[in-house]
Amino acid sequence: MTGPKFQNLLVTGGAGFIGSNFIRYLLDQKDFHGRVINLDALTYAGNPASLGDVEAAHGGGRYRFVQGDICDRSLVEAVFRDFQVDGVAHFAAESHVDRSIHGPEAFIRTNVLGTFTLLDCARVAWAGRQDVRFHHVSTDEVYGSLGPGGYFREDTPYDPRSPYSASKASSDHLARAYHHTYGFPVTVTNCSNNYGPYQFPEKLIPLMILNILEGRPLPVYGDGRNVRDWVFVDDHNSAVWLVMTRGEPGETFNIGGENEWQNLDLVTTLCELMAGALGRDPDEVKKLITFVADRPGHDRRYAIDCSKLKKTLGWNQTMDFREGLAKTVAWYLDNPDWVQGIRTGEYTRWMTEHYPE
Ligand code: NAD
Ligand code: DAU
Repeated sequence: MTGPKFQNLLVTGGAGFIGSNFIRYLLDQKDFHGRVINLDALTYAGNPASLGDVEAAHGGGRYRFVQGDICDRSLVEAVFRDFQVDGVAHFAAESHVDRSIHGPEAFIRTNVLGTFTLLDCARVAWAGRQDVRFHHVSTDEVYGSLGPGGYFREDTPYDPRSPYSASKASSDHLARAYHHTYGFPVTVTNCSNNYGPYQFPEKLIPLMILNILEGRPLPVYGDGRNVRDWVFVDDHNSAVWLVMTRGEPGETFNIGGENEWQNLDLVTTLCELMAGALGRDPDEVKKLITFVADRPGHDRRYAIDCSKLKKTLGWNQTMDFREGLAKTVAWYLDNPDWVQGIRTGEYTRWMTEHYPE
């Protein structure tokens, strides 16, 4: 099967965690010879330092950066026109559940209105072409919460339960509606929790790594028994690329690590890994674990059935979790400048004061 051959691929949200890793991954692929245009508003979560190496190697050539908002229709129209965009990998979003609980409006704006704006500009610019592709990156959280058993499949009914997941669900519906209504060539993926280098330290794993480094409390929500399915960011991105280049338009694929962990067990493992890396006593590090009030509406368990992706497109995870965690810890310890850059920006740690008992 031959898929689209992108010459000018627009990546939205490329200065964020997954998007920056995607751009690095993409520019290394033998089946991609085109140019990447990164459209990013540089919100608190967008960090040009995450692409310093890419800018140095490819800036002005195969890599172009445009600072701007995906809700800005005239800007998005100009990007499509000026760069002759023939593919979109849409990562830009407000992505943190806790922030969506405290301030949902930005989530509705970027995730719903922003996705609509991109879809509609692409539809008009591409005028029925089928040798192009719009890939919408989404989350397993749209499916809601599982009990102790079962898995999310592509046909699991949507049941989003936070403002974040509701906004992502809305954008997924818009993407598929564009395919159904206009024959627009869109693919969608719904992925579980990512981890790896360049992740903003408001998310569980990097937050814990930096708090351990500084001897700060490790806030575990509720009883710490909520379950997440962790996948290494490059494994997510290899799936996105496979779906963009080989997936049938209109199709949705789930992506997951098949790697379920209760939060408390994961944080304990991180304490052990960090103690080893820093030459500290693991029992002393574990004493930093602090149970705090639960996240309101906290989904209990996510677990992904990704057999469709495996069977249809031959995808597989490649990163072993303990190896990936060790690599991630090493990356944060080896990149103090990146960490310091975040500290001097808008980043304030999410701590107990946000969810009073
Ligand atoms: P992130 O918060 O690290 O990065 C988001 C990026 O989008 C930032 O660079 C930010 O500046 C940019 N952005 C935000 N609003 C924008 C706007 N209006 N216009 C242009 N750019 C804007 O997010 P992430 O964790 O890298 O997630 C990327 C995508 O993957 C999101 O769509 C998210 O829903 C999805 N996803 C994330 C995970 C995960 O575990 N992090 C899992 C599944 C799916
Ligand atoms: O499942 C995919 C989703 O994973 C993505 O769509 C989201 O963009 C991404 O943020 C992530 O959402 P989660 O809410 O699962 O991730 P987070 O890292 O915020 O939290 C992971 C788990 O750890 C969750 O059960 C809440 C808990 N937690 C989180 C933080 C930040 C804590 O116990 N303490 C914390 O300080």
